[in-house]
Amino acid sequence: MSDTRRSKRVPVGILGATGTVGQRFVERLADHPWFEIAAVAASDRSRGKSYAEASRWRLPSRLPDSVASMTVAAVTDELPCAIVFSALDSAVAREVEPQCARRGMLVFSNASSHRMDEDVPLLIPEVNPDSIALLPKQRRQRGWRGAIVTNSNCSTMFLAIALTPLHREFGVEKCFVSTMQAVSGAGYPGVPSLDILGNVIPDIPEEGEKLEREVVKILGRTEGDRVVAADFPVSAMTYRVAVEDGHTESVSVALTKKPGAEDLEEAWREFRGDSEVAGLPSAPERPIHYLPETQRPQPRRDVDTERGMATLVGGLKPCRIFDWKFTVLGHNTVRGAAGASVLNAEYAAIKGLLD
Ligand SMILES: NC(=O)c1ccc[n+]([C@@H]2O[C@H](COP(=O)([O-])OP(=O)(O)OC[C@H]3O[C@@H](n4cnc5c(N)ncnc54)[C@H](OP(=O)(O)O)[C@@H]3O)[C@@H](O)[C@H]2O)c1
Repeated sequence: MSDTRRSKRVPVGILGATGTVGQRFVERLADHPWFEIAAVAASDRSRGKSYAEASRWRLPSRLPDSVASMTVAAVTDELPCAIVFSALDSAVAREVEPQCARRGMLVFSNASSHRMDEDVPLLIPEVNPDSIALLPKQRRQRGWRGAIVTNSNCSTMFLAIALTPLHREFGVEKCFVSTMQAVSGAGYPGVPSLDILGNVIPDIPEEGEKLEREVVKILGRTEGDRVVAADFPVSAMTYRVAVEDGHTESVSVALTKKPGAEDLEEAWREFRGDSEVAGLPSAPERPIHYLPETQRPQPRRDVDTERGMATLVGGLKPCRIFDWKFTVLGHNTVRGAAGASVLNAEYAAIKGLLD
């Protein structure tokens, strides 16, 4: 990224700005050193209203004054920016994101619609930075001036990060995961309170399938301008639980090499992205925090670690069926959504893709 760009913030737009993830984007971009919110867009229900009125701000932080008075645009309007962050439902994103890319915008998306397209990066900068190399092919094949870069499903994010050091050092042969997912993961107003209070709801629609296919794309190898998926099976069960923020996952893995507990703990503790990624404004100091205490990580206590950008791992035990089992936790609307997209945009910036 050039020095000129550092001294002048890049105008960005947020699609789906009034929703659960959209509000996290506003929170994380309002004081961003490189980006400046120039447009907020949502459905026709919100169009023309002030952002304060349309969003009914629901985060504990204060709604930034600079955004409160902005008028909400429609997602199909011409927006005064070359970068958009998308927090749209996948059905809407499927149409709108390609329209934006065709008009020359770089789209950083949270929606599932394009994640598995073979020319679309499913990017986690600490894990698979090379996947950004798919962009020239995407532009060439689709005739777009802009492009789409996606981040994964929220539960996928924490599993992919936790498995990366294990796969690199010991080789993952198979993985079974059960999730306990927060209600904020279902958007707003999301799951009715009478369904979720004092309850656990199994089998979140399509969530297990997303986990199973996205993790192996992310942990695959980028060869030139294509991704070869990692060659191990993932089996996932998913559950919605009465937690506000933070997805917990119970993971069992079989590994090719047979490391001891200390080897796994060391692999997690020492895991870092490339140094250029570690220096990005949204990057956590340590992508993985291994918690040796018993009965950790817990959503209420640990989810905000490193401003919600850390993945927490704990409870490592030998597994009688696989090799090892452990618990993973992450903030679904931050590291699992808005924070991840902003980090992707920062990575694209240092790679010169915003120039
Ligand atoms: N929540 C999470 O933890 C999480 C994590 C990872 C990924 N995601 C993904 O992120 C996306 C957004 O999720 P969310 O939880 O933020 O959902 P949400 O709270 O329901 O928000 C949806 C947003 O999309 C807008 N919208 C709805 N229908 C629209 C339409 N027809 N045209 C234009 N805009 C429309 C809404 O605007 P109005 O306010 O005007 O209705 C709102 O801004 C989804 O694709 C989801 O799968 C969510």
